[in-house]
Amino acid sequence: MRSPKDFFAPLALGAPEPPRQIPFRPSRMIHFFDPGNEKMAAKVPDLAKKTDVLLGNLEDAVRADRKEAARAGLVSIAKATDFGRTQLWTRVNSLDSPWVLDDLVTLVTEIGDKLDVIMVPKVEGAQDIHYVDRLLAQLEARAGLTKPLLVHAILETASGVANVEEIAGASPRMQGISLGPADLAASRRMKTTRVGGGHPGYLVRTDPVGEDLTEGRTTYQQDLWHYTVARMVDACAMHGILPYYGPFGDIRDVVACEDQFRNAFLLGCVGAWSLHPVQIDIAKRVFSPSPSDVAWARRVIAEMGDGTGAVMIDGKMQDDASVKQCRVVAELADELAA
Ligand code: GLV
Ligand code: MG
Repeated sequence: MRSPKDFFAPLALGAPEPPRQIPFRPSRMIHFFDPGNEKMAAKVPDLAKKTDVLLGNLEDAVRADRKEAARAGLVSIAKATDFGRTQLWTRVNSLDSPWVLDDLVTLVTEIGDKLDVIMVPKVEGAQDIHYVDRLLAQLEARAGLTKPLLVHAILETASGVANVEEIAGASPRMQGISLGPADLAASRRMKTTRVGGGHPGYLVRTDPVGEDLTEGRTTYQQDLWHYTVARMVDACAMHGILPYYGPFGDIRDVVACEDQFRNAFLLGCVGAWSLHPVQIDIAKRVFSPSPSDVAWARRVIAEMGDGTGAVMIDGKMQDDASVKQCRVVAELADELAA
């Protein structure tokens, strides 16, 4: 006979089981290249020396009549290149396209040992990840691969956002999620026409000072992506995988790009896409904690001793929770320096 206690796991005292944490590898920028473009392909060995992640893109931005050339180009680049510590990722075509099956079969079979992560666009829910997961398992077994390929989802449909928690936890292969602001804007019927970034019309206005409704009013542009990034960060943290801002398409506007990337970093993202070499350095700078923040974090950790209780440092109260925040910053600095 089962007693009630069989229905309840004994209560574990102390810290709850931490979520599965993807082993750390720097991925401050995911640098996109078109493997079917010979001029771009020739730059790959050099780019591999200055990027954390290089991604051979097969999806949007590759014309329909260039899909096969891009796929073949990626196979030959991967075979010919020593990527060193830089990771090689690919973005395959979407699951409703005529190209994705050949993308997955060819890439896993030919260069599955060179690839680290497969980015899947337009993920709508856990079922899309389950499909890719099973197919990868079959292809890996057939190719005799021993290291499982990881999967990264792009959050770029309204239904993907609604299902982001289940997507993040859909498979042990899940490595991370990126915001895809351009497709997401279209899916939501937003009224933007650019790739990432803001819109001058999306603003708040301070209240008027007196009777005259025009007096003393200032406007502040708002971040169109705050809600989605915050939601994605929570889903990723809950499942121990990594969140990323996606693309910033206005290559000349390095100031706004840096601001957008920094907002994402401060909210918990570990990296962003770079679409042009100029964005590589921006991402490297933004997604590495600044020396002064690291020094402050280490000071708080040192002064807090065993990490419990409270101390005053330069007039600011620090306690167990601030030590945890400081550890995030200090650990990231250590991991990037390793
Ligand atoms: C990226 O794929 C985007 O749609 O923003
Ligand atoms: Mg997209």
